[in-house]
Amino acid sequence: MIPLPANARLTADAESTARAAAEHLIERVTSATGERAAVCLSGGTTPKRLYALLASPEFVGRVPWARVHWFFGDDRVVPWDDPLSNVRMVREAFGHESPVPSTHLHFIPSDEGPEAGARAYAATLQAFYGADTLDPDRPLFDLVLLGLGSDGHTASLFPGKPALAEREAWAAPVPEAGMAPFVPRITLTLPTLTSARSVLVLVNGAGKQDPLRRLADGEDLPARHVASARGVTWLIDRDAAGA
Ligand code: 6PG
Repeated sequence: MIPLPANARLTADAESTARAAAEHLIERVTSATGERAAVCLSGGTTPKRLYALLASPEFVGRVPWARVHWFFGDDRVVPWDDPLSNVRMVREAFGHESPVPSTHLHFIPSDEGPEAGARAYAATLQAFYGADTLDPDRPLFDLVLLGLGSDGHTASLFPGKPALAEREAWAAPVPEAGMAPFVPRITLTLPTLTSARSVLVLVNGAGKQDPLRRLADGEDLPARHVASARGVTWLIDRDAAGA
């Protein structure tokens, strides 16, 4: 078995990962102080089952939908109805009878290109937060969900790309993605992604053994920068862990 990151929890399979993540998310948003809670959603394929579970009859009554606001950790710069769009993935996963109030789902604008979209989304986040500087003692998010790419990226922070080093802007353009889909992206930056009471990294499948092994070997992959975040938990299934 691959040595796992600190604060990793081994799950039996993808379904177990999704269920554990749903329980964690519900605990985070119900324990959140203040009148609103903020969750940062990850894209790709891994979290789809989690989002569908939250909207399912089994879980839907346990989520305080009226007080949770949902943001995106990154998105592809494509129309929101494009099969590559994380907005489309999330909308499909929450379903046509989505329990999410339309004003609570904050999409990353994709119609003005990566640079303008990153600036616009940073402004959206700052308006919600009520300041343009992140206070370490007042996290922006109650929970940030992240995935792990087979190259060790997370959100759209790819190895060797400028956005990974960005420490001032809250969101950054990624004109050239580091792996498929090779479309421009917009991503939250590390300071924003780690301004969280809790970070949950979901990792399923044998295809993630390589990045997990590289992290265990100490490689400075983008996901490593998240691994040291406050309150990070990894949910890793047995296939990914090589268990
Ligand atoms: C994206 C995601 C990305 C994803 C990883 C893992 O927009 O693609 O934000 O960071 O989490 O690439 O993707 P899978 O879950 O599809 O393996």
